[in-house]
Amino acid sequence: MSGGRARIAASILDADLSNLAYAVRRLEAAGADRIHLDVMDAHFVPNLTFGAKTISHIRKRTELPLDAHLMISEPGRYLDQYLDAGCDSITFHVEVEEAIAPILRRIRAAGRAAGLALRPVTAPDALRPYEELLDIVMVMTVEPGFGGQVFMRDVAKEKLLAARDLLSHKAYGGEVHVDGGVNRETAEFVGALGVDILVVGSALFTKGRDMGREVRLIKALADEGYQYGLNNGVPPIPRDRMVTFTSLPKPIARRFTDEIEAGGIPVVMLRGDGQINPDGVRDYDLLVPATVEALVVERHGDARASYLREAAEWREAFIRERGVIAPPSHP
Ligand code: DX5
Ligand code: ZN
Repeated sequence: MSGGRARIAASILDADLSNLAYAVRRLEAAGADRIHLDVMDAHFVPNLTFGAKTISHIRKRTELPLDAHLMISEPGRYLDQYLDAGCDSITFHVEVEEAIAPILRRIRAAGRAAGLALRPVTAPDALRPYEELLDIVMVMTVEPGFGGQVFMRDVAKEKLLAARDLLSHKAYGGEVHVDGGVNRETAEFVGALGVDILVVGSALFTKGRDMGREVRLIKALADEGYQYGLNNGVPPIPRDRMVTFTSLPKPIARRFTDEIEAGGIPVVMLRGDGQINPDGVRDYDLLVPATVEALVVERHGDARASYLREAAEWREAFIRERGVIAPPSHP
């Protein structure tokens, strides 16, 4: 994981399909954050690529998250194969004829991120009935089916911010993906429209260009776009930055962690190096993503004050009843 806000999901569609293991290793070494897998059935789109079997082999070759982009007519019929292949997220098209909500529920029930993709012609409102079931909205900025096509600026302009709105129910972790024609010329434009994940294919496999430099350049340009297009010139908070929200004795920290996580915000609970409690154990720090710190304070600021009071009372009661237990030699 690297600093900054923008993430790159590298598409292997334009890689040497006879040597995918090598392509995936190169992409990982180049700093790609995840692998984007374009599955095409020559029915939903006029092209045929690879399926779950190939993906299950790629799964053994990398720790990077695998995003399946299913451009197939029957995603529900074949879903289990992609779950079994080890995809971390599964996005299919809202334009299919199968019932959509049950498929999204099955993806989530399997503990994966569920997404819907939109062809350029499809309006974002087509996703409205499913918004509560979505973790990912994938905006196609080319007609699905091939890599190396020209980026559709108007489509991006019309849809990327609307896509964010469709994920507003998620306090944390909702992702807007832009797919098609993303490269060093278009990265700043999509960054300024708040995109989270840039799917990049042919631009990474351009002869004579260093793949690692291309990844860094595209991310930097997207973050620049976000900084000046949406964030009043303020650099974006790096996605992987965590901040300490509070520190509490373990049993109380546990309860508060569950409370915050119930609202969809991940918490990392770590034994801190701060206060040693009368039971000989140090306080635990509750870390939350810096990108949602303001929301955590808004939602849980009052609770934090009362948990801190409860902790003080617990310490006093412990000392009254059991005195102070010396911490173990390695507190
Ligand atoms: C097209 C695919 C895209 C494609 C992106 O149908 O969904 O993921 O591989 O490739 P580029 O970046 O070359 O447009
Ligand atoms: Zn794709």
